[in-house]
Parts: sequence; structure tokens; C-alpha cells
Amino acid sequence: MSDQSNSRKTIVLTGASRGIGHATVKRFSSAGWRVITCSRHPISEHCPWEAGPEDHVEIDLGDPIGRRDGINEIKKRLGGGPLHALVNNAAISPKGEDGVRLNTQNTREEDWKKVFEVNFFAPILLARGLRDELALAKGAVVNVTSIAGSRVHPFAGSAYATSKAALASLTREMAADFGPDGIRVNSIAPGEIDTAILSPGTEDLVANIPMRRLGQPEEVAKTIYYLCTEMSDYVTGAEIHINGGQHV
Ligand SMILES: NC(=O)c1ccc[n+]([C@@H]2O[C@H](COP(=O)([O-])OP(=O)(O)OC[C@H]3O[C@@H](n4cnc5c(N)ncnc54)[C@H](OP(=O)(O)O)[C@@H]3O)[C@@H](O)[C@H]2O)c1
Repeated sequence: MSDQSNSRKTIVLTGASRGIGHATVKRFSSAGWRVITCSRHPISEHCPWEAGPEDHVEIDLGDPIGRRDGINEIKKRLGGGPLHALVNNAAISPKGEDGVRLNTQNTREEDWKKVFEVNFFAPILLARGLRDELALAKGAVVNVTSIAGSRVHPFAGSAYATSKAALASLTREMAADFGPDGIRVNSIAPGEIDTAILSPGTEDLVANIPMRRLGQPEEVAKTIYYLCTEMSDYVTGAEIHINGGQHV
């Protein structure tokens, strides 16, 4: 291996095939990082990057057995080398029939559990599974939460919202436990970002956002990048809002 490839930084990113994940792949790969991605499907032809297909691991993060095998596969790809960043971006936000919001009354127990498997358990199990590699690099973990984790949202359902609130708390707990190894753990909480996860009617929310527009996936990717680089060396346990002021 050349000196250049030895010094190349590596990120593991979940949910890379579209939206915020796709923009994050582009941000890191254009800065020269090796990007290992995972999601349920093969890499989309709309999200190409150098070494994309070879460094893509197909995992259903909601399936405990598939998840365990997937973590082992990622470790194999890292070959005992350092991991500079883990970004827990994949999430699901199920809707009821005809797109109806699933609240505390009408969310089926099995759906609620599935949401927590993907949105909450996968981030901690990935981070624990990759802790040695993260410690080697004194790396960074970024958990992608949501504005829905801190207020009732008109479209995002209760299971999604509570999973994101739990992920924000998990970030604090992880920052305390991973910090002694030099691993920083932060979260970012997007508001309304222009991606496929948005519900019809989101445009109506824009009138109440101080910046009067949706956010762009690239704007989220830039903040993730900041949290994974030396620009944020002493930042841990933080949650950064990326929402054009929607939370004020
Ligand atoms: N867009 C917004 O406005 C917004 C607002 C607040 C928070 N967020 C958060 O930002 C993150 C990205 O959102 P997005 O809008 O970019 O989402 P998206 O377009 O729906 O993409 C979700 C990604 O997660 C992957 N994924 C879903 N279920 C999975 C599973 N069981 N196992 C493995 N991968 C899975 C998907 O790939 P496959 O389908 O191939 O598995 C896809 O790559 C999420 O955490 C979301 O909660 C988004």
C-alpha cells in the first residue's frame, strides 16, 4: 500500500443511496476519503462514485442477524485499520394508509419496534461493533436525528419522533462513554430537507421557517463533514440544528 493510501481517511456511512446520504458520499469522496456505505439495496445508478459498488455493503439494519453479519463484513473491509468517521444516517419513517400520520394511538407495536431497530439500535450497535477501529483513528460518530425528536411534527409519526429523541439522548450517553478513547460523538438534527422522505404538504411549513425555504442535502452534508474533521476537534455530545431557524 502506498503512503497516500495509508493516510487516506475512511468513513462508514449508512443510508447512502439517496437524499442526505448521497450528498454526504459526494462531500467526503470529493475530499479524498474512502467511503464505505451500507443500505438494503445495491448502490443506485444515480449515486455513483469512485469504488462505490466495491465498498457498498448490503444490510437491512432493521434485521438483527443481517445487521450483525453486516458489521462483520464492514470490519473485514476495514482489515483492522483505522475508521475516522461513522455516520448513522439511515432511518425509516413509516406512514399509514394514504400517507396518514401514525400517532401514539394507531402505530402497530411491530412497526414501532421496526422503527427503533433501524433508527436507534443500529447506530449504537454499529458504533460498538466498530469501536476498536474508531479508537485507532480517534474518530468521530455522527448520529442523524431530526427536528421531530423535540416537537410534535405534522407528518413525522410518533415512532419516528421518539426514536430520534432517543437517538439524541444516546448521543449524549455515547459521548461520555466513547470520549476516553478520543472518539467524539455528536448529532445533527435536520428540519425540512429537500429529499424523498418529505411528505406532500411540506411546502406549507416553509412559511413558518425563518429562512423561508427548505434545506438542501448538501447543506446537511457540510455540517456532517465539519463534525468529522479537525475543525470540530473539541466538540462532542452536541446536537446541531440544521433547519433554517425552524426550532426558534
Ligand atoms: N429529509 C428530511 O427532511 C429529514 C429531516 C429530518 C431528519 N432527516 C434524517 O436524515 C436522514 C436521511 O434522510 P433522507 O431524507 O436522506 O432519507 P431517505 O431519502 O429516505 O434515505 C434513507 C436511506 O436509508 C436507507 N435505509 C432505509 N432503511 C434501511 C434499512 N432497514 N437498512 C439499511 N438502510 C436503510 C435507504 O436505502 P435503502 O432503501 O437501499 O435501504 C436510504 O439510503 C434520516 O436519518 C432522516 O431521519 C431527514
